[in-house]
Amino acid sequence: MDETLAAYEGVAHRYDELNARMDTAALVDRFVEAAERYGSGGRRLLDAGCGTGRSSLAFRERGFDVTGYDLSPAMVEQARHRPGANGTRFLVGSLQQPPPGLTGFDVVACVDVPMTYLTSTDDLHRALAAARRQLADGGLLLFDLNTIGYYRRTFAAPMVADRGDRYVTWFALSAPVEPDATVVTQFDLFERDGTTWNRLSMRHVQHHHSDRTLRRTAEAAGLRVLAAHGLVGTSLRNPPDEDAHDRILYVVGAR
Ligand SMILES: C[S@@+](CC[C@H](N)C(=O)[O-])C[C@H]1O[C@@H](n2cnc3c(N)ncnc32)[C@H](O)[C@@H]1O
Repeated sequence: MDETLAAYEGVAHRYDELNARMDTAALVDRFVEAAERYGSGGRRLLDAGCGTGRSSLAFRERGFDVTGYDLSPAMVEQARHRPGANGTRFLVGSLQQPPPGLTGFDVVACVDVPMTYLTSTDDLHRALAAARRQLADGGLLLFDLNTIGYYRRTFAAPMVADRGDRYVTWFALSAPVEPDATVVTQFDLFERDGTTWNRLSMRHVQHHHSDRTLRRTAEAAGLRVLAAHGLVGTSLRNPPDEDAHDRILYVVGAR
């Protein structure tokens, strides 16, 4: 099984709890502001890499008519059972090979770095070309990518959190991060269960897509980068800085 699929299949039932510190609502606000500034004002939104539906429902609360899809059937199952999900369509498919028939969207959004799991420029191209086909004329593709600074800062040394009955480690398995390189990290959660410990392990295979590669690949897929903003946490910074900021929010339009 693909490592990303395996990672999210294994954690889906606990994803929201383990990722509780991520302020998805605030991140979605940055996406919505970009859609309002650069988009057509249309409200049909495709949440690509929707996970357990947190981003999807945040968009819905902000007035969008949302369809979501994700690589992981278990994440999609969580999304379908999410309180308030009634009426939102959740499908299974990858960014590179999405579910068929998804066209005419005013916004395609990939929130909280689904695109970083595309580990080659070919896959990035497939995903961008698919998004181009999903967009209506004048539509916008919005996504965030980790910066090289984020990878270097976060995985320069192993991270360990010892909370007594819960012990977490997270560290890089790959060499120091270079532009356009793949970054492999290992996450392990040990939890005490009576006299024994349970272990939940995940391997994340992510990629740094440099600004240059991203722009060139977008052009080849019939898209154009309209704006790029730095993100520190969920606060926007301008201009974007690959070393200082955590992520870059890309605003991309159909050519
Ligand atoms: C960090 S989660 C974010 C989920 C959701 N957008 C949110 O904000 O809560 C990243 C999601 O991207 C999905 N993903 C990773 N690679 C993917 C791919 N190639 N195609 C579709 N989804 C993918 C994972 O399954 C996971 O659910």
